[in-house]
Order: sequence, then C-alpha cells, then structure tokens
Amino acid sequence: MIAWLKAIHVLALIVWCAGLLVLPGLFAQRRRLDVARAAELHRFTRTLYIAITSPAAFVAVVAGTTLLFMREVFNTWMMLKLVAVGVLVIIHMRAGYLILSVFEPEGNYAPWRRWVMTGVTLAVIGVILVLILDKPAIEHGALPSWLREPGGLQSLVETIRPIP
Ligand code: HEM
Repeated sequence: MIAWLKAIHVLALIVWCAGLLVLPGLFAQRRRLDVARAAELHRFTRTLYIAITSPAAFVAVVAGTTLLFMREVFNTWMMLKLVAVGVLVIIHMRAGYLILSVFEPEGNYAPWRRWVMTGVTLAVIGVILVLILDKPAIEHGALPSWLREPGGLQSLVETIRPIP
C-alpha cells in the first residue's frame, strides 16, 4: 500500500513540476503573437493549468499527506520540506494569476522573467529533492525559534510588519 501511494505521489509530482517549468516558457511566447494566435495560446495554457498541472498538484499533496501519517515521518527535514512545498504552491498560484493577466490585450511578460521563474522553480524543486532523498539529520534546536514554537510565525509577521 505504501509503495503504491509513493508511486502515485512521485508520478503526480513529476507532472506537477513539469507543468510549473513549462508555464513560464508559454507566457514568454505571448509577446510574439497576434491577437488570434495569442487567444489560442491562452486556451492551451489554461487547459494545461486547469486540467493537468492543478489536478496533479492536488494528487501529489493528498498522497504526500497520507504518506506523512502512514510513515509517521514527523521530523525536521520533513517540516523543512513542507516549507519548500509551500513555496512551490505559491509559485503555482502565481502562475494561475499570470494566466489571467498576461493574456489581457495590454498584458506583457518580459523574457527575463521566464528565466528567473524557471530558475527559482528549479531551485525549490532541488531543495525538496535534497531534503527527501538525503533525509539530513537536522537538530530540532538548529532551527530559529519562530519555526519551532506554536504561534512563532505569527509573532515573526508582527515583528516585521511596518509600523502604520
Ligand atoms: C504537501 C506536500 C507533500 C507531502 C506531505 C509529502 C510527504 C512525503 C512523504 C511522507 C514521503 C515518504 C517519505 C519516506 O517514505 O521516507 C514522500 C516521499 C517523496 N516525496 Fe513528498 N511530499 C509532498 C510533496 C512533494 C514534492 C512537491 C516533491 C518534489 C518536488 C516531493 C518529492 C518526494 C520524493 C522524491 C519522495 C520519495 C522519497 C523516497 O522514497 O525516498 N514530495 N513525500
């Protein structure tokens, strides 16, 4: 059962990550196309995001969360992996927003953004893979206190929030 779940997890995250890596390239095509071709590209990009990448993300997260409880791997590297997965989810949501804005008549996506986005996404995926495959023995106490204490993140946000 665990082997099957892990296989589903890995297959789904391959599709998810591939989608996240392809999307910036599609956004970058936008500026070279006329209105009719841009509408076609918009339809293709939306379908890729809604019908393939997002369901794959959902399956990867549900299978991963089930594995988490079945394998009881509540340790530091897993918590750090979950922080990195949170960044991947933010990248995913940002891509969804860009599908709406880049294909507007006045929408634009500068070529350098494609390489920055691809680089950041690759770096986050790399961090996740190193954490899950190496399973480094990180001491709990080595983490900053806002990552260890309940409510710590809230107090960090309050500390860095600018004074009105
Ligand atoms: C909410 C999201 C996720 C959760 C809760 C989660 C949780 C887990 C758990 C519990 C395992 C089994 C670990 C073990 O058997 O020792 C696992 C395996 C794995 N995960 Fe995730 N995961 C998530 C997302 C991801 C993402 C986004 C990636 C890669 C980009 C990833 C890559 C992997 C890989 C490669 C394995 C197999 C590792 C092995 O068998 O040694 N996971 N995940």
